[in-house]
Amino acid sequence: MRVTVDAEICGGHGACLSTAPEVFRLTDDGYAEVVREFADTDVPGGLEDAVEQAALHCPTKAISISPG
Ligand code: F3S
Repeated sequence: MRVTVDAEICGGHGACLSTAPEVFRLTDDGYAEVVREFADTDVPGGLEDAVEQAALHCPTKAISISPG
């Protein structure tokens, strides 16, 4: 599974950081991004559920997931 955050859509609500802190971080501007470790590669299977929950609960629907 690949995951991305659209910085144009993210409102900085931070729900993703609570749900999957291993995968998302806040930039200095206060918006979410995928940590470098998973920016260009598949998210490990053990974190996929958390990423799906984060995408589901992001208030602005800024998180996109796609099959790896
Ligand atoms: Fe942004 Fe959504 Fe996370 S608004 S901070 S991607 S919960």
